[in-house]
Amino acid sequence: MQVVTISGFKGGTGKTTVASLLGVAAVKDGLRVASLDLDRNTRNLSSFLTLRRASRLQSPDHVMLMDMEGEARTNAQPKHSGRLEPLVRMARMDGYDLMIIDTSSGNLADVYEAHLLADVILTPMNESPADMHALFAPLGSAAAPRINYREMIDTVRFDRKRAGLPVQRWHVVMNRVSSLPSKVGVIVNERVAELAKEAGFEAIWRLRDRVVHRALALEGRTVFDTPADGKLTMSELSGRSEVRALLALIDRAPSQQFAKAA
Ligand SMILES: Nc1ncnc2c1ncn2[C@@H]1O[C@H](COP(=O)(O)OP(=O)(O)O)[C@@H](O)[C@H]1O
Ligand SMILES: [Mg+2]
Repeated sequence: MQVVTISGFKGGTGKTTVASLLGVAAVKDGLRVASLDLDRNTRNLSSFLTLRRASRLQSPDHVMLMDMEGEARTNAQPKHSGRLEPLVRMARMDGYDLMIIDTSSGNLADVYEAHLLADVILTPMNESPADMHALFAPLGSAAAPRINYREMIDTVRFDRKRAGLPVQRWHVVMNRVSSLPSKVGVIVNERVAELAKEAGFEAIWRLRDRVVHRALALEGRTVFDTPADGKLTMSELSGRSEVRALLALIDRAPSQQFAKAA
């Protein structure tokens, strides 16, 4: 089973959108998918899946961890909550192929644990300097955010190494890419390519900004659900192939079971 944690300490980058699209795409591909919503504020992924269930649309099996207090991580406390590991273990024993964990923007004990347990970390960001600084400005630099995502990933990597766990893959997903090229888009992409070397993340996968994603989400639908008239628009078809490209990228990570099921 692959555990994919979708994160970034910045709101509105597309974490829940990517989690929803990947989850539905994988289920439609015949994989057994579990999902976990750690954003106790918005519960966006849970609401989306509630809508799907009401319409009897094929969906991942979902857990919303309601009872978590969501303590902020401090040096005095254990780094992780210990509440996710049993869930991941059970899903693995139960034969799930993929677990998708959607997270909130804060550095909380359960969010930290979601990173510790991840085989793949996905960080969506928009082509904007605000996202770039909020996610990747190094500690000590003028633009560094107080709750530092990069530092958290470094700590996770250190903790995994110490525990003898394999190196995980970290992908940045450029999301809401405009169909119109822009100067700032080019600059952000160049800087992100430099940051990739410096911070140690891998391929940058792209998802276009498509109104259809927002429009379909209104009813808990995605581009992978066949419309009533059976006709897919060009935008829906292109949206599908962008998401499939990401699913293929995750599939490259070593996992016998996932490779078999896919
Ligand atoms: N590729 C996309 N195309 C169109 N709208 C998008 C796309 N990705 C995200 N959005 C929209 O951007 C907003 C924030 O996305 P969301 O997934 O909720 O972010 P997060 O979970 O990181 O806070 C939502 O309104 C969502 O519908
Ligand atoms: Mg969200």
